[in-house]
Amino acid sequence: MNTIIAGLQWGDEGKGKIVDYLTKSADLVIRSQGGNNAGHTVITNGVKYILHLLPSGVVWDHKVNVIGNGVVIDPVGLVDEIRRIEAQGIAITPEKLLISDRAHIVLPIHKELDAAREASLGSHKIGTTKRGIGPAYADKINRCGLRVADFTDRAFVSGRITRRVAEANEILARYSLPTFDAAAVCSEMFTAFERLAPHVTNTIPVLHAAWKAKQSLLFEGAQGTLLDVDFGTYPFVTSSNTTAGGACTGSGLPPMAIERVIGVCKAYTTRVGSGPFPTADAGLSDYLHGLGREFGATTGRPRACGWLDTVLLRFACMVNGVTGLAVTNLDGLDASDTLQICTSYAIDDKVHTLPPAERDAWDRAVPIYESLPGWQCDTTGCSRYQDLPGQAQTYLARLAELCGVPIALVGVGPDRAQTLAV
Ligand code: IMP
Repeated sequence: MNTIIAGLQWGDEGKGKIVDYLTKSADLVIRSQGGNNAGHTVITNGVKYILHLLPSGVVWDHKVNVIGNGVVIDPVGLVDEIRRIEAQGIAITPEKLLISDRAHIVLPIHKELDAAREASLGSHKIGTTKRGIGPAYADKINRCGLRVADFTDRAFVSGRITRRVAEANEILARYSLPTFDAAAVCSEMFTAFERLAPHVTNTIPVLHAAWKAKQSLLFEGAQGTLLDVDFGTYPFVTSSNTTAGGACTGSGLPPMAIERVIGVCKAYTTRVGSGPFPTADAGLSDYLHGLGREFGATTGRPRACGWLDTVLLRFACMVNGVTGLAVTNLDGLDASDTLQICTSYAIDDKVHTLPPAERDAWDRAVPIYESLPGWQCDTTGCSRYQDLPGQAQTYLARLAELCGVPIALVGVGPDRAQTLAV
Protein backbone atom coordinates (compact mmCIF):
# COMPACT_ATOMS: atom_id res chain seq x y z
CA MET A 1 0.00 0.00 0.00
CA ASN A 2 1.49 3.37 -1.02
CA THR A 3 1.67 5.46 2.13
CA ILE A 4 2.66 8.99 3.08
CA ILE A 5 3.88 9.54 6.61
CA ALA A 6 3.29 13.15 7.56
CA GLY A 7 4.21 14.99 10.76
CA LEU A 8 1.15 16.73 12.22
CA GLN A 9 2.84 19.10 14.67
CA TRP A 10 6.10 21.11 14.58
CA GLY A 11 8.33 18.19 13.60
CA ASP A 12 9.98 15.71 15.98
CA GLU A 13 6.77 13.67 16.24
CA GLY A 14 8.70 10.39 16.12
CA LYS A 15 8.13 9.84 12.40
CA GLY A 16 11.39 7.90 12.03
CA LYS A 17 10.10 5.17 14.31
CA ILE A 18 6.74 4.94 12.52
CA VAL A 19 8.48 4.90 9.13
CA ASP A 20 10.72 2.17 10.46
CA TYR A 21 7.71 0.20 11.71
CA LEU A 22 5.92 0.48 8.35
CA THR A 23 9.09 -0.19 6.36
CA LYS A 24 8.84 -3.90 6.97
CA SER A 25 6.01 -4.06 4.43
CA ALA A 26 7.49 -1.44 2.06
CA ASP A 27 9.74 -1.98 -0.94
CA LEU A 28 10.88 1.61 -1.34
CA VAL A 29 11.30 4.44 1.20
CA ILE A 30 11.30 7.96 -0.23
CA ARG A 31 12.32 11.37 1.13
CA SER A 32 10.66 14.10 -0.92
CA GLN A 33 11.32 17.42 0.86
CA GLY A 34 13.53 19.15 3.41
CA GLY A 35 17.20 18.41 3.89
CA ASN A 36 19.54 17.63 6.72
CA ASN A 37 17.54 19.94 8.98
CA ALA A 38 15.62 16.73 9.73
CA GLY A 39 16.77 14.32 12.42
CA HIS A 40 15.15 10.91 12.41
CA THR A 41 16.12 8.49 15.14
CA VAL A 42 15.64 4.78 14.53
CA ILE A 43 16.41 2.28 17.29
CA THR A 44 16.53 -1.33 16.28
CA ASN A 45 17.93 -4.31 18.21
CA GLY A 46 19.19 -1.81 20.77
CA VAL A 47 21.28 0.10 18.18
CA LYS A 48 20.49 3.77 17.65
CA TYR A 49 20.82 5.31 14.17
CA ILE A 50 20.44 9.05 13.68
CA LEU A 51 19.51 9.91 10.12
CA HIS A 52 19.29 13.35 8.54
CA LEU A 53 19.15 12.92 4.76
CA LEU A 54 19.16 9.15 4.37
CA PRO A 55 15.67 7.63 4.32
CA SER A 56 14.99 5.44 7.37
CA GLY A 57 14.78 2.32 5.18
CA VAL A 58 18.59 2.21 5.00
CA VAL A 59 18.73 0.37 8.31
CA TRP A 60 16.91 -2.58 6.67
CA ASP A 61 18.31 -5.07 4.16
CA HIS A 62 16.83 -5.19 0.65
CA LYS A 63 14.91 -1.88 0.72
CA VAL A 64 15.43 0.75 -1.94
CA ASN A 65 15.82 4.26 -0.51
CA VAL A 66 15.21 7.32 -2.65
CA ILE A 67 16.20 10.93 -2.06
CA GLY A 68 13.70 12.64 -4.34
CA ASN A 69 13.85 15.79 -6.45
CA GLY A 70 12.17 17.91 -3.77
CA VAL A 71 14.96 17.41 -1.22
CA VAL A 72 17.86 19.87 -0.84
CA ILE A 73 21.13 17.98 -0.42
CA ASP A 74 24.20 19.14 1.45
CA PRO A 75 26.73 16.90 -0.35
CA VAL A 76 29.35 17.10 2.41
CA GLY A 77 26.73 16.43 5.09
CA LEU A 78 25.38 13.46 3.13
CA VAL A 79 28.83 11.92 2.64
CA ASP A 80 29.52 12.32 6.39
CA GLU A 81 26.20 10.68 7.20
CA ILE A 82 26.88 7.76 4.83
CA ARG A 83 30.30 7.26 6.48
CA ARG A 84 28.76 7.35 9.96
CA ILE A 85 26.09 4.79 9.10
CA GLU A 86 28.65 2.60 7.29
CA ALA A 87 30.81 2.74 10.44
CA GLN A 88 27.78 1.29 12.29
CA GLY A 89 27.96 -1.73 9.96
CA ILE A 90 25.41 -0.81 7.27
CA ALA A 91 26.75 -0.63 3.71
CA ILE A 92 25.19 2.15 1.63
CA THR A 93 25.38 0.70 -1.86
CA PRO A 94 24.12 2.21 -5.15
CA GLU A 95 21.33 -0.42 -5.13
CA LYS A 96 20.24 0.67 -1.67
CA LEU A 97 20.35 4.46 -2.13
CA LEU A 98 19.17 6.39 -5.20
CA ILE A 99 19.64 10.16 -5.40
CA SER A 100 17.49 12.22 -7.77
CA ASP A 101 19.41 14.04 -10.47
CA ARG A 102 16.90 16.91 -10.07
CA ALA A 103 17.46 17.53 -6.34
CA HIS A 104 18.98 20.89 -5.44
CA ILE A 105 22.28 21.39 -3.65
CA VAL A 106 22.98 23.15 -0.36
CA LEU A 107 26.30 24.98 -0.65
CA PRO A 108 28.44 26.12 2.30
CA ILE A 109 27.42 29.72 1.47
CA HIS A 110 23.78 28.80 2.14
CA LYS A 111 24.60 27.80 5.71
CA GLU A 112 26.45 31.06 6.34
CA LEU A 113 23.66 33.09 4.70
CA ASP A 114 21.17 31.25 6.93
CA ALA A 115 23.19 32.25 10.00
CA ALA A 116 23.59 35.84 8.74
CA ARG A 117 19.86 36.22 8.21
CA GLU A 118 19.10 34.83 11.64
CA ALA A 119 21.61 37.25 13.20
CA SER A 120 20.04 40.17 11.33
CA LEU A 121 16.58 39.26 12.65
CA GLY A 122 17.73 39.57 16.28
CA SER A 123 14.91 38.73 18.67
CA HIS A 124 12.62 37.97 15.68
CA LYS A 125 14.82 35.14 14.44
CA ILE A 126 13.17 31.96 13.11
CA GLY A 127 15.42 29.67 15.17
CA THR A 128 16.53 27.70 12.09
CA THR A 129 18.78 24.67 12.24
CA LYS A 130 21.39 26.77 10.33
CA ARG A 131 21.73 23.99 7.76
CA GLY A 132 21.24 26.46 4.88
CA ILE A 133 17.81 25.07 4.00
CA GLY A 134 15.99 28.40 3.46
CA PRO A 135 18.72 29.98 1.27
CA ALA A 136 19.07 26.76 -0.80
CA TYR A 137 15.31 26.64 -1.50
CA ALA A 138 15.40 30.40 -2.18
CA ASP A 139 18.01 29.79 -4.92
CA LYS A 140 15.83 27.00 -6.33
CA ILE A 141 12.77 29.28 -6.52
CA ASN A 142 14.92 32.18 -7.68
CA ARG A 143 16.16 29.94 -10.53
CA CYS A 144 19.83 30.31 -9.64
CA GLY A 145 20.27 26.99 -7.80
CA LEU A 146 22.56 24.09 -8.58
CA ARG A 147 21.07 20.66 -9.19
CA VAL A 148 22.65 17.24 -8.79
CA ALA A 149 22.56 16.68 -12.58
CA ASP A 150 24.65 19.83 -13.10
CA PHE A 151 27.66 17.98 -11.66
CA THR A 152 28.15 16.15 -14.95
CA ASP A 153 29.37 19.53 -16.26
CA ARG A 154 32.28 20.68 -14.09
CA ALA A 155 32.74 23.95 -15.98
CA PHE A 156 29.09 24.90 -15.43
CA VAL A 157 29.27 24.04 -11.71
CA SER A 158 32.50 26.02 -11.23
CA GLY A 159 31.01 29.02 -12.99
CA ARG A 160 27.75 28.88 -11.00
CA ILE A 161 29.56 28.45 -7.67
CA THR A 162 31.96 31.29 -8.47
CA ARG A 163 29.05 33.64 -9.22
CA ARG A 164 27.00 32.64 -6.17
CA VAL A 165 30.03 32.83 -3.86
CA ALA A 166 30.79 36.37 -5.09
CA GLU A 167 27.16 37.42 -4.45
CA ALA A 168 27.09 35.75 -1.03
CA ASN A 169 30.44 37.29 -0.02
CA GLU A 170 29.02 40.78 -0.56
CA ILE A 171 26.21 40.02 1.90
CA LEU A 172 28.49 38.27 4.41
CA ALA A 173 31.00 41.13 4.34
CA ARG A 174 28.15 43.52 5.19
CA TYR A 175 27.67 41.57 8.44
CA SER A 176 31.46 41.27 9.00
CA LEU A 177 31.14 37.50 8.63
CA PRO A 178 33.81 35.23 7.11
CA THR A 179 33.66 35.09 3.32
CA PHE A 180 34.27 32.10 1.01
CA ASP A 181 36.90 31.15 -1.53
CA ALA A 182 35.10 29.87 -4.65
CA ALA A 183 37.90 27.46 -5.63
CA ALA A 184 37.82 25.84 -2.17
CA VAL A 185 34.01 25.49 -2.31
CA CYS A 186 34.25 23.89 -5.79
CA SER A 187 36.90 21.44 -4.67
CA GLU A 188 34.86 20.47 -1.56
CA MET A 189 31.77 19.87 -3.72
CA PHE A 190 33.60 17.86 -6.39
CA THR A 191 35.23 15.65 -3.72
CA ALA A 192 31.85 14.95 -2.10
CA PHE A 193 30.33 14.14 -5.50
CA GLU A 194 32.92 11.46 -6.17
CA ARG A 195 31.31 9.47 -3.32
CA LEU A 196 27.72 10.35 -4.32
CA ALA A 197 27.93 9.93 -8.13
CA PRO A 198 27.22 6.15 -8.22
CA HIS A 199 23.89 6.79 -6.48
CA VAL A 200 22.67 9.54 -8.84
CA THR A 201 19.91 8.65 -11.30
CA ASN A 202 16.61 9.80 -12.74
CA THR A 203 14.48 8.52 -9.85
CA ILE A 204 11.13 9.40 -11.48
CA PRO A 205 10.89 6.41 -13.89
CA VAL A 206 12.22 4.15 -11.11
CA LEU A 207 9.33 5.22 -8.85
CA HIS A 208 6.77 4.92 -11.65
CA ALA A 209 8.01 1.42 -12.53
CA ALA A 210 7.72 0.42 -8.86
CA TRP A 211 4.18 1.84 -8.71
CA LYS A 212 3.14 0.02 -11.90
CA ALA A 213 4.67 -3.21 -10.54
CA LYS A 214 2.49 -2.76 -7.43
CA GLN A 215 5.48 -2.47 -5.13
CA SER A 216 4.81 -0.74 -1.85
CA LEU A 217 6.05 2.86 -1.60
CA LEU A 218 6.55 4.64 1.70
CA PHE A 219 7.02 8.42 1.76
CA GLU A 220 8.94 9.58 4.79
CA GLY A 221 7.86 13.13 5.58
CA ALA A 222 10.33 15.41 7.33
CA GLN A 223 9.45 18.26 9.73
CA GLY A 224 5.73 18.74 10.40
CA THR A 225 2.56 20.41 9.16
CA LEU A 226 2.96 23.51 11.34
CA LEU A 227 6.40 24.03 9.75
CA ASP A 228 4.97 23.84 6.19
CA VAL A 229 5.79 27.00 4.25
CA ASP A 230 2.10 27.34 3.22
CA PHE A 231 0.16 25.86 6.13
CA GLY A 232 2.48 26.40 9.08
CA THR A 233 2.91 29.20 11.59
CA TYR A 234 4.48 31.50 8.98
CA PRO A 235 7.13 32.95 9.09
CA PHE A 236 8.23 30.49 11.80
CA VAL A 237 8.31 27.61 9.34
CA THR A 238 10.78 25.72 7.21
CA SER A 239 11.08 26.38 3.47
CA SER A 240 9.40 23.32 1.97
CA ASN A 241 5.94 21.75 1.74
CA THR A 242 6.08 19.29 4.60
CA THR A 243 2.45 18.21 4.07
CA ALA A 244 1.20 15.30 1.94
CA GLY A 245 1.19 17.25 -1.34
CA GLY A 246 4.96 17.70 -1.02
CA ALA A 247 5.37 13.94 -1.39
CA CYS A 248 4.04 14.17 -4.97
CA THR A 249 5.84 17.33 -6.11
CA GLY A 250 9.02 16.14 -4.43
CA SER A 251 9.07 12.71 -6.06
CA GLY A 252 7.30 12.93 -9.42
CA LEU A 253 4.56 10.48 -8.42
CA PRO A 254 0.99 11.72 -9.01
CA PRO A 255 -1.65 12.05 -6.24
CA MET A 256 -3.56 8.96 -7.45
CA ALA A 257 -0.53 6.82 -6.58
CA ILE A 258 -1.15 7.53 -2.88
CA GLU A 259 -3.45 5.15 -1.03
CA ARG A 260 -2.99 6.05 2.63
CA VAL A 261 -1.77 8.99 4.74
CA ILE A 262 -0.57 8.20 8.24
CA GLY A 263 -0.38 11.35 10.37
CA VAL A 264 2.14 11.19 13.20
CA CYS A 265 1.69 13.18 16.38
CA LYS A 266 3.00 12.95 19.91
CA ALA A 267 0.58 12.33 22.74
CA TYR A 268 1.51 15.89 23.74
CA THR A 269 3.07 18.76 21.74
CA THR A 270 6.67 19.95 21.31
CA ARG A 271 8.43 22.65 19.34
CA VAL A 272 12.01 23.80 18.73
CA GLY A 273 12.96 27.16 17.27
CA SER A 274 10.88 30.31 17.65
CA GLY A 275 7.21 31.01 16.98
CA PRO A 276 3.78 30.56 18.53
CA PHE A 277 3.00 27.61 20.81
CA PRO A 278 -0.32 28.24 22.62
CA THR A 279 -0.34 25.08 24.76
CA ALA A 280 3.31 25.36 25.92
CA ASP A 281 3.60 24.35 29.57
CA ALA A 282 6.73 24.95 31.64
CA GLY A 283 5.84 22.23 34.15
CA LEU A 284 5.44 19.58 31.44
CA SER A 285 8.70 20.76 29.77
CA ASP A 286 10.66 20.49 33.03
CA TYR A 287 9.16 17.09 33.74
CA LEU A 288 9.98 15.63 30.27
CA HIS A 289 13.49 17.19 30.20
CA GLY A 290 14.05 15.71 33.66
CA LEU A 291 13.37 12.29 32.14
CA GLY A 292 16.08 13.05 29.54
CA ARG A 293 13.41 13.35 26.83
CA GLU A 294 12.77 16.03 24.23
CA PHE A 295 16.22 17.15 23.16
CA GLY A 296 16.60 17.72 19.36
CA ALA A 297 18.28 14.96 17.29
CA THR A 298 19.87 17.49 14.90
CA THR A 299 20.93 20.32 17.20
CA GLY A 300 20.56 18.87 20.73
CA ARG A 301 18.38 21.88 21.64
CA PRO A 302 15.79 21.24 24.37
CA ARG A 303 12.31 21.25 22.85
CA ALA A 304 9.58 23.32 24.46
CA CYS A 305 6.76 20.99 25.54
CA GLY A 306 3.04 21.49 26.02
CA TRP A 307 -0.34 19.81 26.12
CA LEU A 308 -1.99 18.11 23.18
CA ASP A 309 -3.43 20.73 20.82
CA THR A 310 -6.30 19.43 18.69
CA VAL A 311 -6.83 22.82 17.01
CA LEU A 312 -3.54 22.19 15.24
CA LEU A 313 -4.13 18.47 14.78
CA ARG A 314 -7.61 18.94 13.30
CA PHE A 315 -6.16 21.36 10.71
CA ALA A 316 -3.21 19.04 10.05
CA CYS A 317 -5.58 16.10 9.44
CA MET A 318 -7.52 18.26 6.95
CA VAL A 319 -4.62 19.52 4.84
CA ASN A 320 -2.84 16.16 4.76
CA GLY A 321 -5.95 14.03 4.20
CA VAL A 322 -4.90 11.83 7.11
CA THR A 323 -6.52 8.39 7.04
CA GLY A 324 -5.02 7.08 10.30
CA LEU A 325 -3.23 8.61 13.30
CA ALA A 326 0.03 7.29 14.73
CA VAL A 327 0.33 8.63 18.28
CA THR A 328 3.88 8.43 19.65
CA ASN A 329 5.43 8.94 23.09
CA LEU A 330 2.29 7.97 24.98
CA ASP A 331 4.61 6.71 27.74
CA GLY A 332 5.85 10.31 28.24
CA LEU A 333 2.53 10.96 30.02
CA ASP A 334 2.65 7.80 32.19
CA ALA A 335 3.22 9.68 35.45
CA SER A 336 0.80 12.60 34.94
CA ASP A 337 -2.25 12.59 37.20
CA THR A 338 -4.35 14.94 35.05
CA LEU A 339 -4.02 15.52 31.31
CA GLN A 340 -5.15 18.55 29.35
CA ILE A 341 -6.39 18.47 25.77
CA CYS A 342 -6.80 21.79 23.98
CA THR A 343 -10.05 21.66 21.99
CA SER A 344 -10.20 25.27 20.71
CA TYR A 345 -8.66 28.73 21.15
CA ALA A 346 -10.35 31.84 22.45
CA ILE A 347 -9.11 34.79 20.39
CA ASP A 348 -10.69 38.16 21.20
CA ASP A 349 -13.74 36.47 22.75
CA LYS A 350 -14.33 34.29 19.69
CA VAL A 351 -13.87 30.52 19.75
CA HIS A 352 -11.61 29.13 17.00
CA THR A 353 -11.44 25.46 16.17
CA LEU A 354 -8.84 26.00 13.42
CA PRO A 355 -5.55 27.93 13.60
CA PRO A 356 -5.59 31.62 12.64
CA ALA A 357 -3.60 33.03 9.70
CA GLU A 358 -2.91 36.46 11.22
CA ARG A 359 0.48 36.60 12.94
CA ASP A 360 -0.62 38.67 15.91
CA ALA A 361 -3.72 36.53 16.57
CA TRP A 362 -1.43 33.78 17.84
CA ASP A 363 -0.22 36.03 20.66
CA ARG A 364 -3.82 36.47 21.84
CA ALA A 365 -4.85 32.80 21.44
CA VAL A 366 -5.90 31.37 24.80
CA PRO A 367 -6.24 27.57 24.76
CA ILE A 368 -9.54 26.12 25.97
CA TYR A 369 -8.83 22.83 27.71
CA GLU A 370 -10.68 19.68 28.58
CA SER A 371 -9.20 17.66 31.49
CA LEU A 372 -8.90 13.89 31.48
CA PRO A 373 -7.59 11.61 34.24
CA GLY A 374 -4.07 10.19 33.78
CA TRP A 375 -3.30 6.47 34.04
CA GLN A 376 -0.25 6.78 36.31
CA CYS A 377 1.33 3.48 35.41
CA ASP A 378 4.05 2.23 33.11
CA THR A 379 2.86 1.58 29.55
CA THR A 380 6.29 0.78 28.07
CA GLY A 381 5.77 -2.98 28.47
CA CYS A 382 2.38 -3.05 26.71
CA SER A 383 2.54 -5.13 23.58
CA ARG A 384 -1.09 -4.84 22.43
CA TYR A 385 -3.45 -1.86 22.29
CA GLN A 386 -5.88 -3.74 24.56
CA ASP A 387 -3.14 -3.92 27.24
CA LEU A 388 -3.13 -0.11 27.62
CA PRO A 389 -4.81 1.15 30.80
CA GLY A 390 -8.44 2.26 30.36
CA GLN A 391 -7.63 5.95 30.94
CA ALA A 392 -4.99 5.81 28.17
CA GLN A 393 -7.50 4.27 25.77
CA THR A 394 -10.04 6.98 26.71
CA TYR A 395 -7.43 9.70 26.11
CA LEU A 396 -6.61 8.28 22.66
CA ALA A 397 -10.28 7.83 21.76
CA ARG A 398 -10.97 11.48 22.63
CA LEU A 399 -8.00 12.60 20.53
CA ALA A 400 -9.33 10.63 17.55
CA GLU A 401 -12.84 12.02 18.06
CA LEU A 402 -11.60 15.63 18.19
CA CYS A 403 -9.59 15.13 14.97
CA GLY A 404 -12.22 13.05 13.17
CA VAL A 405 -9.62 10.40 12.24
CA PRO A 406 -9.15 6.90 13.73
CA ILE A 407 -6.01 5.86 15.61
CA ALA A 408 -3.89 3.37 13.63
CA LEU A 409 -0.73 3.05 15.75
CA VAL A 410 0.44 3.95 19.25
CA GLY A 411 4.06 4.27 20.40
CA VAL A 412 4.95 3.43 24.02
CA GLY A 413 8.75 3.58 23.83
CA PRO A 414 11.65 4.11 21.45
CA ASP A 415 12.17 0.52 20.30
CA ARG A 416 10.69 -0.92 17.10
CA ALA A 417 8.79 -3.46 19.21
CA GLN A 418 7.10 -0.75 21.30
CA THR A 419 4.58 0.14 18.57
CA LEU A 420 1.01 -1.09 19.01
CA ALA A 421 -1.33 -1.55 16.06
CA VAL A 422 -4.98 -0.71 16.72
P1 IMP B 1 15.10 25.42 8.95
O1 IMP B 1 14.33 24.27 8.39
O2 IMP B 1 16.48 25.02 9.43
O3 IMP B 1 15.12 26.60 8.04
O4 IMP B 1 14.34 25.91 10.29
C1 IMP B 1 13.06 26.51 10.25
C2 IMP B 1 12.22 26.06 11.44
O5 IMP B 1 11.93 24.67 11.29
C3 IMP B 1 12.91 26.19 12.79
O6 IMP B 1 11.92 26.46 13.77
C4 IMP B 1 13.49 24.81 13.03
O7 IMP B 1 13.69 24.55 14.41
C5 IMP B 1 12.37 23.97 12.44
N1 IMP B 1 12.82 22.64 11.99
C6 IMP B 1 13.47 22.33 10.85
N2 IMP B 1 13.66 21.00 10.77
C7 IMP B 1 13.09 20.46 11.86
C8 IMP B 1 12.92 19.11 12.31
O8 IMP B 1 13.32 18.13 11.67
N3 IMP B 1 12.27 18.97 13.51
C9 IMP B 1 11.78 20.02 14.20
N4 IMP B 1 11.91 21.27 13.81
C10 IMP B 1 12.56 21.50 12.64
